[in-house]
Amino acid sequence: MSKQAKSLRRVIDDYAGQRLHVIDELTSSPQRTIAITSGKGGVGKSNLVINMAIALASSGMRVLVVDADLGLANIDLLLGITTPYTLEHVATGEVSLEDIQVTGPGGIKIIPGGSGAQRLLRTSEEERASLMRSLRELDDQADFIIIDTGAGLSPNVLTFLKFVHEIIVVTTPEPTSVADAYATVKTIAYENPGASIMIVVNMARSPKNAQDIAGNISVVAKKFLGIDLDFLGSVPRDPMVLKAVAMQQPFLLSYPSSNASKAVIRLTEKLAGEKQEASGNMRWGLSELFSRMFYRVESDHI
Ligand SMILES: Nc1ncnc2c1ncn2[C@@H]1O[C@H](COP(=O)(O)OP(=O)(O)O)[C@@H](O)[C@H]1O
Ligand SMILES: [Mg+2]
Repeated sequence: MSKQAKSLRRVIDDYAGQRLHVIDELTSSPQRTIAITSGKGGVGKSNLVINMAIALASSGMRVLVVDADLGLANIDLLLGITTPYTLEHVATGEVSLEDIQVTGPGGIKIIPGGSGAQRLLRTSEEERASLMRSLRELDDQADFIIIDTGAGLSPNVLTFLKFVHEIIVVTTPEPTSVADAYATVKTIAYENPGASIMIVVNMARSPKNAQDIAGNISVVAKKFLGIDLDFLGSVPRDPMVLKAVAMQQPFLLSYPSSNASKAVIRLTEKLAGEKQEASGNMRWGLSELFSRMFYRVESDHI
């Protein structure tokens, strides 16, 4: 088990004692930006983003969540947070990037995105320069940046999927969800060939059920797209998740010893443990992401 994995293992012990504990043995490793997406909506992305972010934060990592889901049940609603401004207001120059940040449970930082990323791509050269400065400042305060992109293959979702280095595709065991997850994997394979793609099966009936589903997607992806998918893990269908959602609380904090919480801790451990390999030891912050987006958008017009 890696050092980070051990740290997270200790967190689950702390949770059991209803205690949050900052672990001081963090290694200084490169920053990572991870997008979470799905083919079909309602598969549990936003819940996963929040709870994985809290698991990482409680192991001492500085975590920034970007809520870029344009759907209705997004992160602010799940946490009962009201945010007057989003990235869109940053793009129009009404407020600064620092103004829109909110602190969520477990010390995670949240940036409400709206359709701001798309709007940002239409900003002028001058505006971009100041935006890049703010993004770098934001990056300096985060070890992990997790982007909830929303579902499907809309331009808003694709903006992220094309340029993010690490992508988690979430599916449930439902055949339509699996088919749509594969469609998303296929699009990523064409649009962002260097990306590292991870699969999470949520609302799984059993570990075996999840393994079979991830196995099927992986076999097809290997055969027809020639790519390797990484099965990050699964989260069981758990009534505690519904209870926590109804209370607008993350289940990891309300029900730390629930099966869903344990599963989230396990897959977060795996994610943290894969750090060096996945990042290629490079820094992947929001400033790098947006400069890739800006560059590509410009070259498309040449
Ligand atoms: N592991 C789970 N077990 C039971 N219900 C779940 C689980 N994960 C998510 N849900 C339920 O599914 C619904 C959709 O979750 P959400 O995170 O909003 O999905 P998405 O962001 O993909 O649209 C929520 O109401 C939540 O209660
Ligand atoms: Mg959502």
